Amino acid sequence: MASRVFSRTGLRRTIVVSIPGRHRCPLARYSTSVGRTKDTALPNASGETILEKIIVDSIKATGPIPVSKYMQMCLSHPTEGYYSKGDVFGARGDFVTSPEITQIFGELLGIWLLSRWIANGKPKRTRLVELGPGRGTLMDDILRALSHFREFKQSFAAVHLVETSQKLRDVQKDKLAERIASFGSPIDISWYDRIEDLPRDGSEYSMVVAHEFFDALPIHILKKTSEGFRELFVDLQRSPSLSPTLPSKPRLGLAVSPVPNVTSAALSSSSKRFDAVPVGHQLEVSPASWTIARAIGELVSAPGGGAGLIVDYGDARAFESSFRGFRKHQIVDVFDQPGCSDLTANVDFAYLKEALEPVARSHGPIPQRDFLINLGMGTRLEALLGAAKTEERRADIVSAAKRLVDPLGMGTQYKVMGITSRTVGSDSKEEAVFPFSEPALGTNRGRGEAEGKSA
Ligand SMILES: C[S@@+](CC[C@H](N)C(=O)[O-])C[C@H]1O[C@@H](n2cnc3c(N)ncnc32)[C@H](O)[C@@H]1O
Repeated sequence: MASRVFSRTGLRRTIVVSIPGRHRCPLARYSTSVGRTKDTALPNASGETILEKIIVDSIKATGPIPVSKYMQMCLSHPTEGYYSKGDVFGARGDFVTSPEITQIFGELLGIWLLSRWIANGKPKRTRLVELGPGRGTLMDDILRALSHFREFKQSFAAVHLVETSQKLRDVQKDKLAERIASFGSPIDISWYDRIEDLPRDGSEYSMVVAHEFFDALPIHILKKTSEGFRELFVDLQRSPSLSPTLPSKPRLGLAVSPVPNVTSAALSSSSKRFDAVPVGHQLEVSPASWTIARAIGELVSAPGGGAGLIVDYGDARAFESSFRGFRKHQIVDVFDQPGCSDLTANVDFAYLKEALEPVARSHGPIPQRDFLINLGMGTRLEALLGAAKTEERRADIVSAAKRLVDPLGMGTQYKVMGITSRTVGSDSKEEAVFPFSEPALGTNRGRGEAEGKSA
């Protein structure tokens, strides 16, 4: 049930202790349709996962690794990475995301994309692009919403998904097959490792969406010292943990480099805002996010035009220490069972805007609550409630919708940023784009029949 599972923003803080023994993640215990593995090797005495051993051996051989490398290995190692193992979502997985909570989320994102498509003269050939599609639920909901519009259907040519996990690609393929077939015309569905690999003949209008994707991209952590910025590295921990809550000795930890390096110099000067970081404080920076945001901007400003939405937790500012692990709906130490926990960091939307600025227009970010309510969440909620057969189902629909717009939870922790073309169509004109132009909703008011209904 939605109310009993947790998103990855950290609504509940509990440190989970390590289970001694080297092992693969026991996905079979909580995975549903995929990701089951017979190879749930029993713990042995060393207390490390297979990936932890790989990382420890690598550090022993070549020295400490940047946090970005650690994060990338933990999430995307071809066999031992967290997302390489399959379905980690939902009540029986490690966390729940907005599209998995209610279909309204994806439908309203689809309606916004459609509104930009109409505003730009209903381009003749259109593709949908999603980065990090997870189970494919968001794309499925977007397609359901768009399938009701005849002119869009005539224009719809392709779905292009950027996904590194082969197991999740398989899940997405199964999930989307029927929906795509329902369009009744040949639609190209294909997968790519990187946004840079997408075909670009320049003629297609691109609708782009990235939900809870940027928070999974690798970050570097810098510390401001009296002599300038220094990078934090993942190193072997030299002293045993004295914490009574951590019975097993963590083998990895963070260490500050005593000297500057190319990364600390380049990243600390990559935004003017970073000059203001006080001595003694840290800075999380994701150059991978900058590069991908720039690539999205280039896509929507290509000759065919386009528009995009980035939805994630974070804010229009840099964060100091938001890097965290997530497993079974609890926050865990980032070094606890590497490869078995999701790793994530808040998104610095201001950095994404800086990356986009020369190539595309960006709008917001605004709280998810404002975006969804202004786009007509209340009306959609009413329709779903009207169609619901039981009181129990109605209560579920209301509680799911409430959760997405909760002013003390997901409604404000998650932000939505719009991206439109700087060069093509009416979006390129310096006009406000709905609903980013709307005044912020107050905590106790709003056009939200959604709120009224769900109270
Ligand atoms: C937190 S999940 C979000 C899934 C989905 N968008 C949702 O909201 O339910 C992150 C997704 O991004 C994918 N992913 C993570 N890092 C990636 C990368 N560097 N390139 C492409 N996909 C990546 C994961 O495999 C997964 O599908």
